[in-house]
Amino acid sequence: MATIWLLGDPVAHSLSPLIQNTALESLGEPAVYLAARVTEEDFLQVVESLPKLGAIGANVTVPHKVLALQACSQLTDRAKVIGAVNTLIFRSETVLGDNTDGVGWWESLREAREAINFKRLLVLGAGGAARAVAYTALEHGISEVALLNRTVGRAQALAEDLWKQFPEARIDCRDLPDFSSLLEAGTLVVQTTSLGLHGDESPVKLPSMLPPNVFLSELIYGRETRLLREFRDLGGRCSDGLGMLVGQAVHALALWLGRRPGEIPAELMLQAACCRFNRA
Ligand code: ATR
Repeated sequence: MATIWLLGDPVAHSLSPLIQNTALESLGEPAVYLAARVTEEDFLQVVESLPKLGAIGANVTVPHKVLALQACSQLTDRAKVIGAVNTLIFRSETVLGDNTDGVGWWESLREAREAINFKRLLVLGAGGAARAVAYTALEHGISEVALLNRTVGRAQALAEDLWKQFPEARIDCRDLPDFSSLLEAGTLVVQTTSLGLHGDESPVKLPSMLPPNVFLSELIYGRETRLLREFRDLGGRCSDGLGMLVGQAVHALALWLGRRPGEIPAELMLQAACCRFNRA
């Protein structure tokens, strides 16, 4: 039986084994998805060993997504620009590194994108998740982006990398308190900071009224963040990060199995994830 691995530290609470094994079983694929806690010190050696043990691929999660670049003999363009790898595909002599976070996020917003013709993207944060999101939105034709980060220099570094790929893009780098003044009609807001993972803090203060046709994509899942709650209380439409988690999983599985993403049972995977949180 082929194996697929999740490599990270920690991995114990990850939903990926549940989601991926649900899909593998439903597809009748003779493969199993397993999670392994791997230290930074061991990471490269573990990746080198896995294909020899019959593994067909791996997901990489916190904190190894950047280190994983070094484990790859080939990288997709999007993994290069995003500067991080979440999917490794093992093929005979090669280790291909890809990043499916952005495409998974974009697809999770299909309904919102059909309902609202987004004119601009406003990203809170400038880490790995922000890179994936901004790259993907630009790739899909949203050419106006505001990057808001506590450390504005980090947002500027991200903008420089994005301009190499999208020289025509309008990218504005700002501090988080500028949020309200930048929130216009037709804005897709994406919350990628780690603030809200544990406590009840929000990276930004919302205006007293939201403009029309704005949407909040909160990447944190499994708990309602303060920002999500406040946005919803103001009547704003929003989603949490569960859709992105499933979306990136769908695309990774398609790559490992050599199938089209449309063949992967995304709905079933989402249902399995929602059940874990007792959500309908
Ligand atoms: P990831 O790869 O998941 O995006 P990361 O690279 O560690 O994670 O990035 C974390 C993001 O959360 C950064 O944008 C970080 O801001 P800085 O670049 O200024 O560090 C943001 N962040 C973390 N703690 C924060 C806080 N207390 N207030 C505001 N932003 C915070």
